[in-house]
Amino acid sequence: VEELVSVRARGLRSSAIRDLLRLAEDPAVRSLAGGLPAAEGIPVERLRTALERALAVPGRYGPTGLQYGPTEGLAPLRDLVAARLRAQGAPADATDTIITTGSQQGLDLLGRALCDPGDVVVVEDPSYLGARQALSAAGARLHAVTADDGGLRTDVLAEHLAAGLRPKAVYVVANFQNPAGTTLALERRTDLADLADRYGFVVIEDDPYGALRFAGSSLPPVRSLGDRVVTLGTASKLLAPGLRVGWLTAPAALVAPLVRLKQAADLHTATLPQLVVHDCLGDEAWLAGHVAGLRTLYAARADALCGALRLRLGERLAWREPQGGMFVWGRLRADRDADVLLPISLRHGVAFVPGSAFTDDPAGRACLRLSFASLTPPELVDAVERLAESMEDLGDARPAGS
Ligand SMILES: Cc1ncc(COP(=O)(O)O)c(C=O)c1O
Repeated sequence: VEELVSVRARGLRSSAIRDLLRLAEDPAVRSLAGGLPAAEGIPVERLRTALERALAVPGRYGPTGLQYGPTEGLAPLRDLVAARLRAQGAPADATDTIITTGSQQGLDLLGRALCDPGDVVVVEDPSYLGARQALSAAGARLHAVTADDGGLRTDVLAEHLAAGLRPKAVYVVANFQNPAGTTLALERRTDLADLADRYGFVVIEDDPYGALRFAGSSLPPVRSLGDRVVTLGTASKLLAPGLRVGWLTAPAALVAPLVRLKQAADLHTATLPQLVVHDCLGDEAWLAGHVAGLRTLYAARADALCGALRLRLGERLAWREPQGGMFVWGRLRADRDADVLLPISLRHGVAFVPGSAFTDDPAGRACLRLSFASLTPPELVDAVERLAESMEDLGDARPAGS
């Protein structure tokens, strides 16, 4: 039946890198590849209490958490999500807020709500693989705009817009970007919101990592600076990704189309985890302590990774010290090829994601994404040791075309 597979689904073939990274699931491999939150950061006991309480929430037709629910999500959770965004200075109302099945579903719905086949969406270069996939699957043509230490180069975007580029949307991870770890500078946030007004596109501001800041101070959400901004959030990095609870707050005109698409996709996000998330995120005193614990945990891991990199790979790799989130983005000096390095590293028992997974720019092949989230500090030190050994085996391989 292969000939029956749609063109759209055929376009989403698994990449060679993905196939290779399956090897990273071997327990003997130290994986710097995954985007999994720390096991120690998942508040299992608090979730157990929340689950017990959730099962006891009564509804008209039996426990609310075990019945069908509204497509938009449960009202108390929508209220809470909107209140949390308002507390960051952005306008938000429960009626503009939809609970989604992870923020990944939000990206899928937004792609389909905004894009007809061939419509342009601007992404940062490099950009989150899952967003690239969701937007491409919706038929969008991705237009990558260069990014640096301050995130998306809004001056370069402005030039492209002035030259005639007309995107439906610009997708950014403004805090601790996946994969580059960078944060969008304040003046660029303002520029982006202004450009959205001037050229009539939507900004998709995806913020799974903003709460995980362990250095520096927070910047205002892009949504606080303009009217054409959708902000996405998730419980995945705060509580647990297996809950599959995310959310988005959108300009009013987008809410009804998004809800219609969501209804067709899954009727609604599972009600039991929505109640669990509401219970935990609504418990402000507990949440403050929990988030402080996550920041300490990730700060120690980022420190361990960067310290080991300095010690063992300072000559071979350049990277930015992260201020939050889960990722360090490295560049192999002398343009060594991370795609070539990966199979060698796997033989040495360490995995990472090569930069080529996040960009079409051949220069990305000199880059690699290292996640410090799911390994302990001693494991991180060991992983860097293995990486250093594999780099010794790499020799002189350079990216094709460089
Ligand atoms: C930038 C970004 N957006 C969205 C997601 C998807 O998260 P969720 O578990 O909420 O679907 C991730 C997951 O790693 C991510 O890094």
